[in-house]
Amino acid sequence: MRIRSFTVPFWQWLPARLYLGIRKPKRAILGMELAGEVEALGRDVTRFKEGDWVFAFAGFGFGAHAEYICLPENASRIQEGMVAPMPANMTFAEAAAATGGALTALRFMRNGRICPGQQVLVYGASGSLGTFAVQLARHFGAEVTGVCSTANLELVRSLGAGRVIDYTRTDFSAGEEKYDFIFDAVARILRRRARKALKKGGIFLSAHDAHGSASIKSEDLVFLKELIEAGKIRSVIDRTYPLERIVEAHRYVDQGHKRGSVVITVAHSPQA
Ligand SMILES: NC(=O)c1ccc[n+]([C@@H]2O[C@H](COP(=O)([O-])OP(=O)(O)OC[C@H]3O[C@@H](n4cnc5c(N)ncnc54)[C@H](OP(=O)(O)O)[C@@H]3O)[C@@H](O)[C@H]2O)c1
Repeated sequence: MRIRSFTVPFWQWLPARLYLGIRKPKRAILGMELAGEVEALGRDVTRFKEGDWVFAFAGFGFGAHAEYICLPENASRIQEGMVAPMPANMTFAEAAAATGGALTALRFMRNGRICPGQQVLVYGASGSLGTFAVQLARHFGAEVTGVCSTANLELVRSLGAGRVIDYTRTDFSAGEEKYDFIFDAVARILRRRARKALKKGGIFLSAHDAHGSASIKSEDLVFLKELIEAGKIRSVIDRTYPLERIVEAHRYVDQGHKRGSVVITVAHSPQA
């Protein structure tokens, strides 16, 4: 399937860096997250037709930072990528931002085995993973506490956190409050610090525990689409850059202070 794409830049992630190459990229075209329009179909494709709007995770073949990408309609493994119809209530930019971070956050929230009424703390609640984790934990019925900097308190509250902690002023682990599940969405806290704020039998997971992404399935993308269309979750977009300014976009993301996602837009010239 060939899809016109609008993509999110690749994030710094050590295993992926090793895969990409240390001194220079092993792959010419990076990018794992995208949304766009189906332009052409393989002979056996049945789920999609030309002109469909889709959002997708390109998998470990990358290639999303481009005008076109070919993806299998039904990949059996995350590595091969996955495609689903785009949420009807989103723009391409919003849909592109609702793939990698949202899929990863969903896996972590499921691994946290959240039960309704439980206390969940999301550390680093203002990044891509964090903004989705807050909304998903809320959707699964948790009482959510979000930890972020002063400038992002309102944003995190607006995503459904009943309580917010400003990490520049307060140490969440020094308070009386104890949590059933702590998710460190920015991989910044030590396990022993988290343990101080966990209830007995509580769970701590860090974005560094990125292994196991193999458990993400294409049904998860459809699940996210349904939640988005039901108004339960949304994308947070910090900035958009045209593809020509992707270096600037990466430099901005590399500073580590983006709110939600940074999106790359791809201009298309009419086909001859
Ligand atoms: N995005 C994905 O699709 C994805 C998928 C798998 C794994 N990961 C991994 O998940 C982690 C998060 O990635 P991301 O893309 O969501 O966000 P990110 O760009 O790594 O983090 C940005 C956010 O982190 C906040 N932050 C920075 N320092 C902090 C601190 N000391 N305490 C709390 N918050 C802090 C920033 O807000 P302030 O500067 O205002 O604090 C900003 O909103 C990374 O390690 C990434 O490799 C990401």
